[in-house]
Amino acid sequence: MTPETLNLLADPRARAELLSRVSDEVNEIESVIRDASSSRSETVDRVIQHTLTAGGKRLRPAFVSLSAKTIRDDVDVDRLRKLGACMEMIHMATLIHDDVIDNAATRRGRPTASVEFGNTASILSGDVLLARAMSILADDEDIPVIRVVANAVAEMAEGEVEELEVRGDFDLDTDAHFGILQKKTAGFIRCCCQIGAMAAGGTKEQVEALSEYGNHIGLAFQIVDDLLDYRGDKAKTGKPIATDFREGQATLPLIFLREKLSPAESQIARRRFGGTVNDDEIRMICDWMETRGAFDQSMNRAIHHAEAAKDSLRSLPVTLARDMLEAVGDYVLSRQH
Ligand code: FPP
Ligand code: MG
Repeated sequence: MTPETLNLLADPRARAELLSRVSDEVNEIESVIRDASSSRSETVDRVIQHTLTAGGKRLRPAFVSLSAKTIRDDVDVDRLRKLGACMEMIHMATLIHDDVIDNAATRRGRPTASVEFGNTASILSGDVLLARAMSILADDEDIPVIRVVANAVAEMAEGEVEELEVRGDFDLDTDAHFGILQKKTAGFIRCCCQIGAMAAGGTKEQVEALSEYGNHIGLAFQIVDDLLDYRGDKAKTGKPIATDFREGQATLPLIFLREKLSPAESQIARRRFGGTVNDDEIRMICDWMETRGAFDQSMNRAIHHAEAAKDSLRSLPVTLARDMLEAVGDYVLSRQH
């Protein structure tokens, strides 16, 4: 860890900025990802490069590495880098596929791979990335780790299907919504922390504590993501505003807003949901969410999960890595993109 990072940790105001330098390994995995994901097919290579160079927070490798180091600081860093790269490659594959499913035009301020290269090339390049990630796991030869990752990937795809099944459902209930968040986002971040803890040879209790941490952080992360969809700054998120509303995907801000609308307002929102809606109407919906407390209520749920994540770490040794995992909790709440 650099002295600069240590100083940042000492300053609570700067903790949120920590993520970009959350560990030296996060920078160093870039070359591992690049090498592991290169393709002999020029088109596939271009799609993957497009996704790789779009940036990204590289949160998942950070979770693998920091979870391992929370347990022991003498873990094989080369192995952690490979496992981290594997998880980031799976994540990249899911985003490429997700943008095809969502018909998304931009991600991280740039045209999506599907816009640039078409749906077929994008889906197949995502498949290549997924298969290359599996190769890393095969070379790693740890069957329990392979099993955990395979289950998380299957669950993530099932969560995405469940989300499609409820698309257009204005009355989606909170439990069903959280079931989807659990599968599509939280389960995979949980998995990153779990395999990091397993790689460090953690006890059953330590692995469980870090898995719980990852699960809660994953829920907080997705709730903030869904909030940013409505009230994020387009210039920072790189995505258009209220795509979830336009696509008919009910998320927490809408779920909380529903109970605060008059029957007439509710009818307006219901009619526009997933259908034709102009920018003024979107502004009106966002304004209702702000003034009636639906944004605050959603943020409170995110805060609850970020706090629960930190609580999950309590039984673990007090290490710098543990401090950094706590700082990630703060970052997740404060992020703007
Ligand atoms: C982003 O959600 C998407 C996910 C968290 C999961 C995507 C999963 C799949 C497409 C299925 C699995 C795919 C593979 C390759 C195994 P979002 O649409 O809410 O977020 P966004 O605003 O970033 O698009
Ligand atoms: Mg999407």
